[in-house]
Amino acid sequence: MKKRSIIALLTLATGILTMQGAGANEAAIEYRQAVMNVYLWNLKPMAGMVKGKIPFDAELFRSRAEGLATATRLDLLSGFPEGSTDEFDSSAKPVIWEKWPEFKGKFEALRRESAKLAEAARSGDAAAMKAQFGNTAKSCGGCHKKFRMKK
Ligand code: HEC
Repeated sequence: MKKRSIIALLTLATGILTMQGAGANEAAIEYRQAVMNVYLWNLKPMAGMVKGKIPFDAELFRSRAEGLATATRLDLLSGFPEGSTDEFDSSAKPVIWEKWPEFKGKFEALRRESAKLAEAARSGDAAAMKAQFGNTAKSCGGCHKKFRMKK
């Protein structure tokens, strides 16, 4: 009888811990996806200008380049606690935690390229802005290719 109630208690405790664990992951997933959407929001009009879909506007470009660089100052990696995958709500691949130094390196590359993009945008040199936009967009794709599931 006593043993059974201990087991019942342990089962309950494990259940609560699992729920809390899931809650923490859920918040981390929401955070990292929100950060990604902030990246995309800033990137989009620059992409449109580089591809010639919208007229080139140095001021708009500069403001979005600054926005992206600022967003990359946020601690993205804290949004990827070990094992925080979710088959329904996340497209993060488990390989992230097997290859953590590489994943971290990809994030650092994004930070570096975005900072350079903001610098180019401040210079007002359109050719430099477009070239550095390419390097920045590549640093998004470079991480997605290996660490994000295809939709
Ligand atoms: C260090 C790796 C890495 C870099 C760099 C990176 N991403 Fe991501 N991105 C991911 C991963 C992993 C996911 C999947 C996250 C999830 O679903 O939990 C993702 C998801 C996204 C999503 C979907 C978000 C959602 O609501 O589901 C968008 C949009 C996105 N990234 C845009 C970008 C853009 C734009 C850049 C570059 C400015 C970028 N990402 C750079 C790893 C990265």
